[in-house]
Amino acid sequence: ITRTLCSSAVRNAAIKHVTVIGGGLMGSGIAQVAAVTGHSVVLVDTSEDILKNSAKNIQGSLKRVVKKKFADKPEAGEEFVQKVMNNISTSTDAASVVQKTDLVVEAIVENLKVKQALFSTLDKVAPAHTIFVSNTSSLPIADIASSTARLDRFGGLHFFNPVPMMKLVEVSIAAGTSQQTFDALLDFTKALGKHPVSCKVSHGSKEDIDVAMKLGAGYPMGPFELLDYVGLDTSKFIIDGWYEKEPENPLFAPSPLLNKLVAEGKLGKKTGEGFYKYK
Ligand code: CAA
Ligand code: NAD
Repeated sequence: ITRTLCSSAVRNAAIKHVTVIGGGLMGSGIAQVAAVTGHSVVLVDTSEDILKNSAKNIQGSLKRVVKKKFADKPEAGEEFVQKVMNNISTSTDAASVVQKTDLVVEAIVENLKVKQALFSTLDKVAPAHTIFVSNTSSLPIADIASSTARLDRFGGLHFFNPVPMMKLVEVSIAAGTSQQTFDALLDFTKALGKHPVSCKVSHGSKEDIDVAMKLGAGYPMGPFELLDYVGLDTSKFIIDGWYEKEPENPLFAPSPLLNKLVAEGKLGKKTGEGFYKYK
């Protein structure tokens, strides 16, 4: 909220105008946080009735936010809600809206063919600079992107539900995504006041995995932090014991990295170093 409607950051950013397609659970939340942070937002869905409901849900969520943040100043809270709502308009015509947008965030039904059909249509009408992203939970970004001719300007922004509360956004890219697009998506995520973790098609770093599990799944510690806290020697004893009992279970297979750290005496917090350094 301190960054609220502070549009100087947005004025200098590559992404100022955002089109969110799909006004359901996720799209409404994404439109809300983008509007709160001073972006110009158009929310698109298939009917006016759905969009009315989306606007009602956004207003309801904003009221929950201001109840706490403006507890002593209800009038300022109302003014805030109105200002945010003024940053959001709605439309049932995605093809005309995207002609003036910097970023399209797709949050429609989790169906590859439907997402491809949408992006294929929008690709023909959106300006060259416009970046497309999907909020898909499970579909490969490259498969969705293949319906367009802008592979370098296509990525994934995976927000978490409820968007106004969850700090994590997984920023994912496909083989063709340019560095410029990736950087713009990281900047946009930060401008929303969210915490991006990078999800290139590769192994995540231990930091990214820990942050993702804390901010995305509500764990108080990430798995690597927790292993360091428990002690890597103790963790190895536990896993080795389970492996002995169930050698066919891949979950209990020996971990070369864990074994190496233990062999080096890096046992976690208690020795000052494990997966992380504590000195
Ligand atoms: N908008 C604004 N404020 C909200 C809100 C919303 N949608 N939801 C909660 N809040 C705020 C309000 O201030 C609320 O207080 P009021 O009820 O007085 O308004 C306060 O949070 C507390 O909310 P609740 O009492 O409803 O419940 P809670 O303390 O359990 O917090 C929660 C709610 C943040 C959602 C919490 O339950 C939580 O973190 N749940 C886990 C969510 C999670 O793991 N999400 C990931 C899902 S997986 C995913 O998204 C990926 C995918 O692809 C499927
Ligand atoms: P939802 O059903 O709440 O909303 C989807 C909205 O998209 C609906 O309002 C629908 O009318 C609209 N829609 C469908 N086809 C459309 C089209 N062609 N053009 C415009 N609007 C269209 O779904 P949701 O939960 O918001 O999920 C949306 C996406 O976000 C999915 O890809 C899902 O996997 C992903 N996601 C969901 C969650 C979650 O917890 N629900 C979390 C992260 C990501």
